[in-house]
Amino acid sequence: LPRDLYQPRRNSRGVEFGDRAALAKLQAEVATARQPITAAALIDGVGLGAAPRAVFSPIDRSSFVGSVREASAEQAQAAVAAAARAFASWSNTPAERRAACLEHAAELLEQRRGQFIALLQLEGGKMLDDALAELREAVDFCRYYAQHGRALMAEPALLPGPTGESNRLQLRGRGVFIAISPWNFPLAIFLGQITAALMAGNTVVAKPAEQTPLIAFAAVRLLHEAGVPPSALQFTPGNGVIGAALVAHPAVAGVAFTGSTTVARTINRVLAAKDGPIVPLIAETGGINAMLVDATALPEQVADDVVSSAFRSAGQRCSALRLLLLQHEVADRMIEIIIGAARELRIGDPRDVAVQIGPVIDDDAARQLRAHVTRMQHEARLLYAGDPPGPNYVAPHLIELDRIGQLTCEVFGPILHVVRYDARDIDKVLRAIAASGYGLTLGLQSRVDATVEDAIARLPVGNVYVNRNMIGAVVGAQPFGGSGLSGTGPKAGGPHYLPRFATEQTISINT
Ligand code: NAD
Ligand code: ALA
Repeated sequence: LPRDLYQPRRNSRGVEFGDRAALAKLQAEVATARQPITAAALIDGVGLGAAPRAVFSPIDRSSFVGSVREASAEQAQAAVAAAARAFASWSNTPAERRAACLEHAAELLEQRRGQFIALLQLEGGKMLDDALAELREAVDFCRYYAQHGRALMAEPALLPGPTGESNRLQLRGRGVFIAISPWNFPLAIFLGQITAALMAGNTVVAKPAEQTPLIAFAAVRLLHEAGVPPSALQFTPGNGVIGAALVAHPAVAGVAFTGSTTVARTINRVLAAKDGPIVPLIAETGGINAMLVDATALPEQVADDVVSSAFRSAGQRCSALRLLLLQHEVADRMIEIIIGAARELRIGDPRDVAVQIGPVIDDDAARQLRAHVTRMQHEARLLYAGDPPGPNYVAPHLIELDRIGQLTCEVFGPILHVVRYDARDIDKVLRAIAASGYGLTLGLQSRVDATVEDAIARLPVGNVYVNRNMIGAVVGAQPFGGSGLSGTGPKAGGPHYLPRFATEQTISINT
């Protein structure tokens, strides 16, 4: 890879919330941008779709955010065919021009931050700081992939010609990429997949999560305005049935999926059963993310890091902490401090900057989380349950398990499981973490280098965080993605991501 892919680069600028004038300016921009959105499926830029479906806010299920006309299965198939027709033109568009479109998109996102943050809050239920961080991540993805696309694709790499031939290697788009995304990062992940696929020379059919079609629609319109031809980026909002119709289409050359492990497996099976070319799947999925805390860790720092990793964003991050492993000697004290800190958290409407935990995404999510707590009350010990301010909210919970293997699937909310361990059993502990089969994030809280290095060496986990929280990976600095049940391995916002969307061609000329 060209060396400049690893060079430091400047990410987007944040807002210091302690600076009251800067915060007030941001809040005013968000307040004036709160407008209902009317979204539709877009085939070659033309709005289509079923009768409008109203979208309500997770903050308050009676707040109208906008409406969406979702694609039918036939329209999804037509979108793939349209993207296939556009492939030759877009893949032959110079990489420099494709990169310029993404950079223009980054500028537009920054100019319209109020509109996107308003949607992230209202449609996604996000806190102001999370919404701003997500907007910045989306901007950074656009610029990062543009920069990498230029370095990798503007010119072919000239290779040695030991026998007198001239050899060159070039990256090319594969064809039509299907981009299927989750609701929990409805802007950053949605745009990250699309911009990487477009930059690599593919045309794209994008399907957002059914919970968050409006922000996705606004992002697609913005990319079109930034210069991406509507034929190169098709938009088919809808539920999993639409996702399945897209994936099954014979013209699909690649699938970028972020979501649950269960759906990734389903897509994998569909792709494997297809006749014709072998279609690559880039899957980024969930995890049973653990944090290991030994007796040398600093208790106050651990408590801060645990609370932000497990409860911030209402635990609705794939990176979030699910399983806290406490060495016996410090367990009682740590549990007491964590419960004390959890009690202080304010839960409520995320538009209030004093609030720290917002709603969960929908009724289904709330029901599943409550059912998990009820089951755990029988199978384990409930150490703490906070008070939710309404039916859309799930307050932080702390549940003590007897053993690591009791948690068998990802619980996607602010519910933290604790297991105590004996320092003499550290081998067993590491084996049990690995035995889950997931490998997304891992937290290590220890002042003993050998403990840290041993855990890193033995656990096949995508992102390891030492003596800090384990959320909020930064584009270009902390490439993000897992292995095993957590994904097929590429790291979003990392130097090896873009080539996964491309195919390679070697040209040898007998001069
Ligand atoms: P999900 O798997 O339910 O849905 C994800 C997307 O897949 C949605 O757009 C959905 O409509 C679509 N889909 C559903 N069934 C399909 C099918 N049969 N064929 C094609 N598409 C189908 O996930 P979710 O609830 O939206 O998101 C939460 C999950 O995403 C969690 O598991 C979380 O860990 C994971 N996630 C992972 C990462 C990462 O980078 N590793 C990031 C964010 C979220
Ligand atoms: N990239 C997101 C994080 O690191 C999921 O929290």
